[in-house]
Amino acid sequence: MLEVKDIHTYYGDSYILQGISLEVEKGSVIAILGRNGMGKTTLIHSIIGFNPPRQGRIMFQGKDITKVPSYNRVALGLGLVPQERRIFPSLTVLENLKVAANKEREDWTIERVFSVFPRLQERIRHRGDNLSGGEQQMLTIGRALMTCPSLLLMDEPSEGLAPVLVRVMRDSIFRLKEEGLSILLVEQNLRFALKSAGYVHLLERGKIAYSCTPEELDGDQETKLKYLGV
Ligand SMILES: Nc1ncnc2c1ncn2[C@@H]1O[C@H](COP(=O)(O)OP(=O)(O)OP(=O)(O)O)[C@@H](O)[C@H]1O
Ligand SMILES: [Mg+2]
Repeated sequence: MLEVKDIHTYYGDSYILQGISLEVEKGSVIAILGRNGMGKTTLIHSIIGFNPPRQGRIMFQGKDITKVPSYNRVALGLGLVPQERRIFPSLTVLENLKVAANKEREDWTIERVFSVFPRLQERIRHRGDNLSGGEQQMLTIGRALMTCPSLLLMDEPSEGLAPVLVRVMRDSIFRLKEEGLSILLVEQNLRFALKSAGYVHLLERGKIAYSCTPEELDGDQETKLKYLGV
């Protein structure tokens, strides 16, 4: 479904992603783990097209999208859950979902989003800025779903959430996987990633330093300490 082939990405003169390759197969959840500043968000931004790679290729559903503008990538079925939780603070939950809707497709309706996040339905008339951090995160995911993606790029969805909400997020990822979505999940939260993903890559200064199953990583204290500091 998604193939990232040896991409090299820069911010000006800063050489950030130094040859990343990975694949996300249909219906799978792949996690990228790494500490602050290792290049996780840069990777997401390269895939969605905010900061395209200078070298390498990105293939999505058999199509080379390396040079496709980011708005067209969304139309092709790439959904983004950004790290900074982009919602409209002055719009209600309902309005936030409506403005995100894909005009061409209707696989994701507001009712279907509410079935994943019943909490959002309870808050339907609340403004974005009246929501808790966890509710804002649910709304951010809901907005991404309204674009009807086949692959969801999630940038630290558990960041800053209380443990009970981290569990809600985890359940929602299971549910989305059951609904047939493929997910590339970027995380710093090891537990969350281990419980959600089928395969993990460890990112270290712009390179994939180690790749394994969640079970293998869980049992490997040395690798966890070396790349994640836990
Ligand atoms: N807009 C920018 N201009 C210049 N350098 C940047 C920019 N954004 C990020 N960087 C640098 O790129 C590197 C990777 O940053 P990135 O945001 O991808 O890390 P991250 O793994 O997502 O970190 P975090 O866990 O804190 O979100 C860092 O050294 C950072 O300082
Ligand atoms: Mg980041």
